[in-house]
Amino acid sequence: MSETENSFFTIKWDNDEVVLLDQRKLPDFEVYERYNSVQAVADAIKTMVVRGAPAIGVTAAYGVALAAIEFKGSVHDIIAACDVLGATRPTAVNLFWSIDRMKKVVIASDGEFEAVLKEAHAIFEEDIAACKKMGAIGAAHFKDGFTVLTHCNAGALATAGWGTALGVIRSAVAEGKNIKVIADETRPRLQGANLTAWELSKEGIDVTVISDNAAASLMRLKKIDAVVVGADRIAANGDTCNKIGTYSVALAANAAGIPFYVAAPLSTIDIDCATGDDIPIEYREDEEVTHIHGVRILPEGVKVLNPAFDVTPGKYITAIFTEAGEISGNYIEGFKNLCRK
Ligand code: MRU
Repeated sequence: MSETENSFFTIKWDNDEVVLLDQRKLPDFEVYERYNSVQAVADAIKTMVVRGAPAIGVTAAYGVALAAIEFKGSVHDIIAACDVLGATRPTAVNLFWSIDRMKKVVIASDGEFEAVLKEAHAIFEEDIAACKKMGAIGAAHFKDGFTVLTHCNAGALATAGWGTALGVIRSAVAEGKNIKVIADETRPRLQGANLTAWELSKEGIDVTVISDNAAASLMRLKKIDAVVVGADRIAANGDTCNKIGTYSVALAANAAGIPFYVAAPLSTIDIDCATGDDIPIEYREDEEVTHIHGVRILPEGVKVLNPAFDVTPGKYITAIFTEAGEISGNYIEGFKNLCRK
């Protein structure tokens, strides 16, 4: 959520520096750090000071603006800096979408700082507007009294503001509906427990955290009316890549006959990926699994696999909400129609 609407912000351009809320310190400490070099911004993305597909896209755009200052308008050096930003995390396509958009302006403006910064601000503002539009579209599916499950954090913290999946919930609450949220804790990094619970409770939205293992059972017991999640990359056929564990949630929702919705801006759709099999999956360091908050929970030397994302086939997705409308069924046709609008 933008700073004008909430007591916190995720990303801000201030006095020729990028300011980021350090999400690794939440929920205990709300700490903002200032960044004035491309390398520092790239490190912040890689180490997850800032995370969430749209948020890393917006942050990278401001990173390019920093490069325009740092490299005094040298197009060659600014483009090289774009590649440093692009080498941080492989899965969320918003990062590459944003960098490509910034590169075009860098070239067209011959590296002019004002033009580059203006484009970064546009990406920031458009992201908030997109979240609000998809929020209103998705909220129409949530009835008063619904209990909605979400996975990971697809909120204000994962975007420039408002959020994608949590934006749908916010929009429903703003319409006066009584919505209860069940947040999966989302091991290994606990984005649900640490981030979703923080931002929703800060805003007074009813949130209950469950262990990831409890989700399927609660759905079978009909304690959940709908699921809504965000996305890191959506293939042309609707296959959706999101935080690891999303696929299990989708399978459980389908088995229980509960709608499973995805909310994501058009910048998350990658028509160059024909199916989910073409989406690169980030594997992160073992320590995310071997430790919780610095405390080892596995025997020394035991092997670990830590994929950060998974793919939910489009057939398990009831509908995808975007800023240009919702799509269901034939995603290939649906995306073509949306892009034509
Ligand atoms: O590894 P993260 O925390 O960057 O993963 C984030 C997610 O998987 C989100 O659900 C996704 O980026 C959508 S955010 C609007």
